[in-house]
Amino acid sequence: MADLSLEFCGVKFKNPFILPSGIITEIPEHKRAIEAGVGGVTLKSLTFEKREGNPLPRLWKYEHGLLNSVGLRNAGIEKGSREIAEFINEHKGKSVILVSLFSTRLKEFVVLVEKIVPLKPEFIELNLSCPNTEDELGRSLGMEKGGAGKVVKVVKKVSGKIPVLAKLSPNVTDIADIAKECEAEGADGISAINTVGPGMVIDIEKRKPIIGAKKGGVSGPGIRPIAVRCVYDIFEAVKIPILGMGGIEKWQDVVEMILAGASLIGVGTATYTKGMKVYQELEKDLLEYMEKNGIKNISEIVGAAH
Ligand SMILES: Cc1cc2nc3c(=O)[nH]c(=O)nc-3n(C[C@H](O)[C@H](O)[C@H](O)COP(=O)(O)O)c2cc1C
Repeated sequence: MADLSLEFCGVKFKNPFILPSGIITEIPEHKRAIEAGVGGVTLKSLTFEKREGNPLPRLWKYEHGLLNSVGLRNAGIEKGSREIAEFINEHKGKSVILVSLFSTRLKEFVVLVEKIVPLKPEFIELNLSCPNTEDELGRSLGMEKGGAGKVVKVVKKVSGKIPVLAKLSPNVTDIADIAKECEAEGADGISAINTVGPGMVIDIEKRKPIIGAKKGGVSGPGIRPIAVRCVYDIFEAVKIPILGMGGIEKWQDVVEMILAGASLIGVGTATYTKGMKVYQELEKDLLEYMEKNGIKNISEIVGAAH
């Protein structure tokens, strides 16, 4: 009998499917993914200050996926950490819970982690994907060589036993190089990829960009080949495990991402088009593929395309 359970950074998952950060905005609402049977749920990125988000519309469907510019709408550290504590208390054990953190400042990242560690989520994911992140001196952190590693280094000093994932942007010259420096500074795993772009869609009648913030990150099937290439490159560069995501909709996409090197699989935008039932469909189809191909555990084919 084929088996989808696995261990990632020493944490047990009942299946490899993860809800990526930001697909659901309100913390209590993430229970919808747990009810759908995901192996893990990543909560919406939490920032130090409360953020109202960008002007509407924040989300736009185009024929190969989505553009979004939510602007990290969230409750901020005080209210947000209370909501996260409640969520963890209520759902611990039903699914693995990953808390995503974002800051534009190194010191704030440390405060956020210190606030979250006592809540004991299974993982902390650092959203290192914003071009506007800077250190005390105003230098970019997330997307330049030397920057992402710096965040990981300070966070690992205060994260205790909770494994830390570095979530990387594809919008860089060499994502593998950034993964390598995160590994060198102690990251326990890599999440990849965040949205591609930014992109733009224009209303040809109004002759204006559609998204409120004009530009938005692109997700969904249109970015899948980029995601696969990024995961492939990261797998070649590091030994720590990878949570792969970007445009995954069907079981064939899941297999492709695993062959590229991912051990866990994020499925986000597909929940907008197919609903939360996508997770159970993928589980059923993946098991069928494994049975047909004599694969007992999915870990047998991680990185097999190399
Ligand atoms: C509406 C929306 C909001 C998002 N918000 C976040 C976020 O807060 N933090 C983050 O790390 N990624 C965020 N992302 C990126 C996703 O977590 C994921 O990396 C990306 O969408 C690629 O996966 P997908 O094609 O399966 O959606 C967001 C994506 C979407 C579509």
